[in-house]
Amino acid sequence: MKGLSSRLAALRREHKLTQKAMAEALGLSRQTVSNWEKGEIEPNIGVLTKIAACFGVSTDYLLGHETYTTHYEEKYRQEGFYWGETINALAFEVLKRLPPVKPLRLLDVGCGEGQAAVFFARNGYHVTAFDIAASGLEKGRALAQAAGVPVDFFQADLLRHALAEEFDVIYSTDVLEYVPPEHRRRVLGHWQAHTAVGGLHVLDTFVEKSFIATAPDWEHGKEFFWQTGELFSHYAGDWKIEWMEEPVFACDSAGVPHQHCMDRMIARRMA
Ligand SMILES: C[S@@+](CC[C@H](N)C(=O)[O-])C[C@H]1O[C@@H](n2cnc3c(N)ncnc32)[C@H](O)[C@@H]1O
Repeated sequence: MKGLSSRLAALRREHKLTQKAMAEALGLSRQTVSNWEKGEIEPNIGVLTKIAACFGVSTDYLLGHETYTTHYEEKYRQEGFYWGETINALAFEVLKRLPPVKPLRLLDVGCGEGQAAVFFARNGYHVTAFDIAASGLEKGRALAQAAGVPVDFFQADLLRHALAEEFDVIYSTDVLEYVPPEHRRRVLGHWQAHTAVGGLHVLDTFVEKSFIATAPDWEHGKEFFWQTGELFSHYAGDWKIEWMEEPVFACDSAGVPHQHCMDRMIARRMA
């Protein structure tokens, strides 16, 4: 079953379990769990059901059959802006590092409710923005209309969407954790191949730290931590990392104070 082994390994790591602890919870041997994760054997349907119950995911998810949505579809339906009105500091970095002194095409991947996309359009960029959550896109369209700026908003799954044109900036904040490890090289490579020379990638994502508990609103089975420095490791050769950081910061999304660790990066295509 394609992807089952990595989904099992990711779920175990998100729950901060060793292979031994997971095996004990399921009444199996550590070797069995290790063999699942290597893709050498697969759990039978009874064990799969038990794993699904233990980790709060569906068997359809484990088997890769679930129609993909995120909990933001629901959250963005609520009144107001789930993410507030503040524009991410990384958006201002785009303005500083690649100001739109000539027409520049910017892509916002996983644009949520569209605030950053509209901010860029108001500042003169030609903006394309997509997200899997239709409710967020509706808010983005209304925001763009109220601001009197064009933004090409559309619904797409970043794991499947093939870019058909080149961009000067690819901007994606707080989204890459939705890319399972086995898709990361392909997705980032595709974005890199569709970025103009001199263009920027402005990205961030959550990294796993043993001393930080997983956030209460983490979408188990849909979000996957990155490892420290993993994001940066995709930017070599024609790419120069202009800036990076790995802060730990406080957050109270879902109304519960907690912490995150994030890798943030601005990289430029040099050739
Ligand atoms: C934490 S929110 C961040 C939204 C926005 N980028 C921001 O910084 O405010 C994550 C966003 O990624 C979107 N998303 C998750 N998986 C996706 C996928 N496979 N394709 C497109 N969008 C996705 C969610 O719907 C959600 O809007």
